[in-house]
Amino acid sequence: MKTMTNIRLENITKTFGSFAVITGLDLTIEAGEFFTFVGPSGCGKSTILNLIAGLEPATGGEILFDGRPVSGLTPMERDVAMIFQGYALYPHMTAYENIAFPLRMKKEHAVRIDSEVRRVADMLGLGEYLLRKPKELSGGQRQRVALGRAIVRKPKLFLMDEPLSNLDAKLRLDMRAELKKLHRELGITTVYVTHDQGEAMGLSDRIAVLEKGELQQCDVPREVYRHPANTFVAGFIGNPPMNLLRAAVVRRSPLELDCNGTVIAPPVDAAPSSDEVIVGIRPEDITVARGPDETTFEATVSMIEPAGSTFLVDALWGKTPIRVVAGPSEVIREGSEVRLVLPLERISVFDGATGRVLQR
Ligand SMILES: Nc1ncnc2c1ncn2[C@@H]1O[C@H](COP(=O)(O)OP(=O)(O)OP(=O)(O)O)[C@@H](O)[C@H]1O
Ligand SMILES: [Mg+2]
Repeated sequence: MKTMTNIRLENITKTFGSFAVITGLDLTIEAGEFFTFVGPSGCGKSTILNLIAGLEPATGGEILFDGRPVSGLTPMERDVAMIFQGYALYPHMTAYENIAFPLRMKKEHAVRIDSEVRRVADMLGLGEYLLRKPKELSGGQRQRVALGRAIVRKPKLFLMDEPLSNLDAKLRLDMRAELKKLHRELGITTVYVTHDQGEAMGLSDRIAVLEKGELQQCDVPREVYRHPANTFVAGFIGNPPMNLLRAAVVRRSPLELDCNGTVIAPPVDAAPSSDEVIVGIRPEDITVARGPDETTFEATVSMIEPAGSTFLVDALWGKTPIRVVAGPSEVIREGSEVRLVLPLERISVFDGATGRVLQR
């Protein structure tokens, strides 16, 4: 692909008045990558996208496209296509005219405009809607028109700010699949922003998890899920989220913990900095005990909620609430006692003082 661009953010800061939104952000988005910034509302996602687009100047640091600083360039000169949450179509224009608009601005030849609009419309399944105005289209169709308008430009870069957030759940899943397919076909570097961790995990080559303008972790989805760097990421990524339980340090090296009265020795090399740690266990990693030679604990089942092919189980381990995702074949009843396995190989242990993960 000729249009692949890598983006480097070097020590980027952004303040509004005296309020620091982004503080020293450093990362590289690889050419052709689908890269997602994910984090809670107000953490600075849209701000970062606006900085990359050139809609806002950075307060400090430099942004480089393919090694060239872009701080002096307008959004137009940066050659990025931005898709906003509201996708702002021209209401008085048909879908066709909306998609054709960027090509008309470039004064392309009418014949070429026509073939290009039809090619992109076919690709997005919009062929039969081209003569409708935005108000005569469904949310998903409008979303696709907005995508079409961005695609015909053949930009260096796609920037997408929560583009699916006002679609219903089913459409959102459909559009997610379409975005992914589109990215595969076009290979254009895409920077995506969402507060929906599931969307980020499903779509992206890599994700950057932000909190309060600070980068918490940047890696492939699988790794962020499996090995969260701190308790914030552990609690943010995954649905239902990771169980986070306080545990007392019984011995530092090799590490031994008292987790709710059960003594465990997780395979962790680093020593904690205080007498308390936080143990992270994914709900789906907890299973009902079958054999005698496992690390187990007793819990009381308080509630069971069917969730498609699995069950969401709320249980009490002593006084500590714990969530378990149980497979369809597990026999668990509300109000009953169950013996559950603590999967030592799969738990994360976080420093009680810093919240950072203790390395294995
Ligand atoms: N022009 C501005 N002036 C002052 N503060 C601003 C401005 N734009 C954004 N902020 C503040 O910067 C912070 C980050 O805003 P931003 O829009 O980047 O968050 P976000 O992560 O996109 O949130 P959301 O998920 O709600 O869209 C917020 O606290 C916001 O109030
Ligand atoms: Mg935003």
